[in-house]
Amino acid sequence: MTAHPREATVVLGIETSCDETAAAVVSGAQTVLSSVVSSQIELHARFGGVVPEIASRAHVDLLTPVIAQALVEAGLPDGGVEAVAATVGPGLIGSLLVGVSAAKALALVWDVPFVGVNHLEAHLYAGFLEDPSLELPVVVLLVSGGHTLLIHMEDHGRYRLLGQTIDDAAGEAFDKVARYLGLGYPGGPAIDRVAMDGDPEAIRFPRAMQDESYDFSFSGLKTAVVNHVRRHPEVGTADVAASFQEAVVDVLVTKAQRAAQAVGAKGMVLGGGVAANSVLRERFLDACTADGMHAFVPSRAMCTDNAAMVAAAGWWRLRSDGPTPLDAGGDPNLRLPVVT
Ligand code: KG4
Ligand code: ZN
Repeated sequence: MTAHPREATVVLGIETSCDETAAAVVSGAQTVLSSVVSSQIELHARFGGVVPEIASRAHVDLLTPVIAQALVEAGLPDGGVEAVAATVGPGLIGSLLVGVSAAKALALVWDVPFVGVNHLEAHLYAGFLEDPSLELPVVVLLVSGGHTLLIHMEDHGRYRLLGQTIDDAAGEAFDKVARYLGLGYPGGPAIDRVAMDGDPEAIRFPRAMQDESYDFSFSGLKTAVVNHVRRHPEVGTADVAASFQEAVVDVLVTKAQRAAQAVGAKGMVLGGGVAANSVLRERFLDACTADGMHAFVPSRAMCTDNAAMVAAAGWWRLRSDGPTPLDAGGDPNLRLPVVT
């Protein structure tokens, strides 16, 4: 195949950057024929976080059956896969290499192109996968366990970084506060659940960096939660969780909305694991509606790590850059390619 995929080119996507082993078959960056995600959460829960060595071993065990299931569910004829895309970074190097090696081997055997995909770019494409009517430019708020980025997506593959966290990522703050409150791992869903019974106005936690910039800071907020609980041991966990969540969501949505207005975006897109948060989803949509902007909040399954978004981003990369050489490896510190 040439560097120019057809509209309906069928891509097998593989995702193994962290603790999700995933494979998906997507036609033309738009039609999901199958998407299989096997979560390792239970393997890591008792350690309170992802253990890299356990993660890579689990990927080795799980990846072949996950790919097989994705291929069977897609119901393709022999030779139906026309390109294989895999996440090459950022992520845990041992985990990344499991997916990258499998993808290269399959690409060689099937004689189709291999495409290395940036995990962050894949999250950006999750929104487009579910709503092809999205018009560019858009502002994307990408909030995950490792990243908090505000991106002006001017065109396909053309990103401008508007702001990012200067310390903890939003998901990291959820995970750390949940651990402190004894809510377990992963922290985001636990806080989301517990906060439903709490009062978001109970405690006024600080909103950091409410200046002109689009950067974020969450480590002071985490410290404020710890200090408050130490000073007021009688405080209800649900109120702390709800007030913490309110502070995070408030800053995220206010900055994303201001950025979208400033750059004249046609829409706002939410992405990354934290985009599964129920209050963030609601507030984000409200902010867009108030501004008459097209809002897109992908389904929860599409927000958290999956391989359909990898296949979609792979299709676009194949179109812009052509196949990735088979001697390319994984890069744990890969950054989103941005224009300056
Ligand atoms: O994108 P993702 O699946 O993995 C990374 O690439 O990091 O994001 C995982 C992060 C974790 O920090 C998790 O606690 C957070 O997303 N998360 C949530 C929710 N569901 C997952 N945070 C807040 N509320 C949720 N409902
Ligand atoms: Zn992710």
